[in-house]
Order: sequence, then C-alpha cells, then structure tokens
Amino acid sequence: MNKVDYLRISLVDRCNFRCQYCMPRVVEWDYINKQELLTNTEILTLLTHVFIPLGFSKFRLTGGEPLLRPGVVKLVQQIASLPQTQDLAMTTNGALLPEMAQNLYNAGLRRINISLDSLQAETFAQIIGRNGTIWWEKTWTGIKAAHKVGFNPLKLNVVIIPGLNDGEVLDLAALTRSRNWHVRFIEFMPIGNDDLFNGRGWIPSEELRQTIRHKWGLEASQVTGNGPADVFQIPGAQGTLGFISQMSECFCSRCNRIRLSADGWLRPCLLNETGQMDLKTPLRRGVNLATIRKQVQKLLEIKPEINFQERDPGTNGGIYSRTMSQIGG
Ligand code: GTP
Ligand code: 5AD
Ligand code: SF4
Repeated sequence: MNKVDYLRISLVDRCNFRCQYCMPRVVEWDYINKQELLTNTEILTLLTHVFIPLGFSKFRLTGGEPLLRPGVVKLVQQIASLPQTQDLAMTTNGALLPEMAQNLYNAGLRRINISLDSLQAETFAQIIGRNGTIWWEKTWTGIKAAHKVGFNPLKLNVVIIPGLNDGEVLDLAALTRSRNWHVRFIEFMPIGNDDLFNGRGWIPSEELRQTIRHKWGLEASQVTGNGPADVFQIPGAQGTLGFISQMSECFCSRCNRIRLSADGWLRPCLLNETGQMDLKTPLRRGVNLATIRKQVQKLLEIKPEINFQERDPGTNGGIYSRTMSQIGG
C-alpha cells in the first residue's frame, strides 16, 4: 500500500483567472467568507498536531490562486521552517509572480508549478476567460521571474483541450529543449463540467506523445517526481515532458496525497468525495487535537478504497459539491 505523506493545502478559493475547466461560468459565485478560511495559525496547528504526527512531510500550497491569499509569504516561511517539512511546493497561475517570486524564494519555497495552457494570447484569453494579452504577459513574465530567482524544478502545467490548444503541443514541448523547464500535459478532467468546450472531451496522452515522438523522438526520463506524471524527455533536451493521464491510465493505486480545502475540509480523493470531513469546526470548538488526529487516521485507513474508479455517482448524484478551483487541483 502506498504511503500517504503528501498534503495539498488550498489557501483560498478565489482566483484572478476564470479557467473554464476549473471554475463554472455563473454570474453569482459564492466565495468562502473570510472568517471561514483557515487562518495561518490553524493551518500550522493542523500540520504540527495532526498531519506531521501521521507521517506527512510533503506539502503543496494551491488555490484558487494561492498568491491572492494575504499572508501567503509568511505561511510559506512558517511551513518551510518546520523541521519535518521535506518538500514544500506551490501550484499557481503565475500572474502575480513578477512581484512575488523573490519574496517566496526568500521565504523558503523552492518548487513551483505554473499553469500555462497556451503561448497565444488569443487562445489564452479563451481558456482563462480574461484579457489574453495582459494576462499572458503577466504569466510569462512570472515564469521568467521564477526562473531567474532560481526555482527548481520549474514545472509548467498545460491542460490540453481538443480544438483549442492541441495544435500547440509541439510549441509547448519545444520550451524544454533549451531550458531546464518541465512541461506537463494534463488530460482534461470532468469535475461537474463534462459538457465544457462542446463536450469535445480529452485527448489521451499517448496521442500527444506520438506527435512529439514523430517530430523529435522521446525517451523515458531519469528524473521522476512525487506526483502522478509519467516523465519523458526529447533526446538532448534540458528539461522534461510529463504526462498526467488520469482519464486514460488510472494512477490511483500510486496515490500518495490528500487535500485540505481553504475552509478546512479534508478530502481523500480529487475525484471522489466519499469520507470528506470538516476539520475546522472541531478545531474551532476546541476538540482535542488527538481526537481530530484519530479521525484523520481512520480516513487514511479507508483511503485506498476511495479513488476515481470507485467513485460512486450515487453519493452525490454525480454532481461534485466543489469545483477544481475550490479543491486546488
Ligand atoms: P509534482 O509533485 O510537482 O509532480 O506536482 P503535481 O503534479 O502533483 O501537482 P500539480 O498541482 O501541478 O498538479 C498537476 C495536475 O495533476 C493537476 O491537474 C492536478 O489536478 C492533477 N493531479 C494532482 N494530483 C492528482 C490526483 O491525486 N488525482 C488526479 N486525478 N489528478 C491529480
Ligand atoms: N482538468 C485537468 N486539470 C485541471 N486543472 C484545473 N482544472 C482541471 C481540469 N478540469 C489544473 C490546472 C492547474 C492545476 C492546479 O489543476 O491547470 O495546473
Ligand atoms: Fe484559477 Fe488555476 Fe483554476 Fe485557472 S486553473 S481558474 S488559474 S485556480
């Protein structure tokens, strides 16, 4: 059985982008009230008294957009300085990195994953639901800032959407040839949004690999990550190509992670809500931390049975109570 030692911590459900695959298109969108967000102190209490004693040592900060959370740099510094933290990373859209990259690095963050679905401002705009020229520039400048201050590895996440950005696979893959960047192609996952992009669905990673193999060749990489990506390399390239293929090749059996939402719910699987539990209410009511820890331990014991394949559409009628932006990917 896999050791579950990696916690993804969503810091805020807000985002300055509106990626269609991540946030539903609704006029009124209920964000979590500020007082419902876990505070930095509460997050640290849960890490120190619940997760670390249960063997967790790898943490990733996610959103929404984690850089929108006030106090994020301080939190990075606090988590990075816990002696049990073996790995601290962040997943961001990168738009605020031009002004924040250096402070995050100084606070102790070393690993960063940035979403970049297109190199074309117009396509970028269609995907993120914002002015493409302005935001693409911010993101690109953010990626360069992260590179310059020394983030390593620096990973770029690309969700491939048929008919929108699948024509850019070679251009995006080419970024790894002369740069030590790691581009990861992600199969689009339906989280209550199956009909998006006219239901054009997802493209299997193997098809993308064929395209790249045909142009440059492709070999298995020596560098592998903590995560679900299968890692390859264009021969002679400085960076790598990862493929996250949750739709075509289930990787649930090697899952090592659980997720904490910004309002304090613990979720055992990205794609299955079975067993999710509220940690914030007992924490705020002063329930003994050892009791909370025991409840989390019980959830960890049943986690292997909670996965994508086993998701029970009956649990929630196939409708997820949270979108990707509220879970943090
Ligand atoms: P590394 O540790 O750097 O490899 O990061 P990661 O790939 O785990 O994290 P990131 O936040 O960059 O996630 C990239 C993509 O992988 C996102 O689309 C996530 O939703 C997806 N992903 C991450 N964890 C899981 C998981 O447990 N299950 C599924 N199905 N997808 C996941
Ligand atoms: N399918 C696949 N990946 C997604 N992400 C967000 N929503 C989806 C989805 N429906 C990715 C983003 C980001 C990470 C946090 O999750 O591109 O890189
Ligand atoms: Fe924001 Fe990331 Fe979701 Fe896009 S994928 S809306 S950048 S949280």
